[in-house]
Amino acid sequence: MSVMVFDHPLIKHKIAILRDKNTPMKEFRELVEEITLVMSYEAFKDAKTRKVIVETPLETCEQEMVAEKSIAIVPILRAGLGMVNGVHKIFPNARVGHIGMYRDEETAEPHEYYCKLPEGIENMNVMLLDPMLATGGSASDAIKMLKARGVKTIKFMAIIASPEGIKRVTDDHPDVDVFVATCDRGLNEHCYILPGLGDAGDRLFGTK
Ligand code: PRP
Ligand code: URA
Repeated sequence: MSVMVFDHPLIKHKIAILRDKNTPMKEFRELVEEITLVMSYEAFKDAKTRKVIVETPLETCEQEMVAEKSIAIVPILRAGLGMVNGVHKIFPNARVGHIGMYRDEETAEPHEYYCKLPEGIENMNVMLLDPMLATGGSASDAIKMLKARGVKTIKFMAIIASPEGIKRVTDDHPDVDVFVATCDRGLNEHCYILPGLGDAGDRLFGTK
């Protein structure tokens, strides 16, 4: 198990704009995608490759390409959807599964409402996506669901995390590698991340 907190000036720059309450929805959506793309370079560092033969204008050579079909991207609905294109920009052929979770507004307990995963997911390397890791309940339950489907290799990528969320996921699932762009101070009484960026789903989809 490992936890990687990105400490990169370009990511910090984009997160500062992402947090700003005046950042409009379109720019917010683009930033989530761009941050995911940058994080993916590190998170997929150990992706399996296969040998391919390529003909350049000058000669034939052996190259390596990622076995994209061995990768599944699984966003946690809704906000995780905003990260999918960031990974698809690199691996356009990666399969996508969806796990629907919402947090009860009173208790902040996660509730599952949807699950559709690609056939054969048990043999794929799964990248679970959610921009927000607050209490960690949603991510932890989503990982449990993937494991119940037989998935053996799971990574989790979030943009804004809390120390509580990181602890919850790593305690519950020590076998999962966690990648977060930044780790914030903590949670408020409604289990929102501070300073955070507010409700990621609402900001991505303009629902409030
Ligand atoms: C948000 C977020 C995570 C979850 C994080 O989703 O996208 O899924 O909360 O909180 P946790 O770590 O305490 O579980 P929300 O339930 O608001 O649903 P939405 O994405 O549909 O807005
Ligand atoms: N979900 C969000 O979208 N934001 C938070 O700060 C916590 C949970």
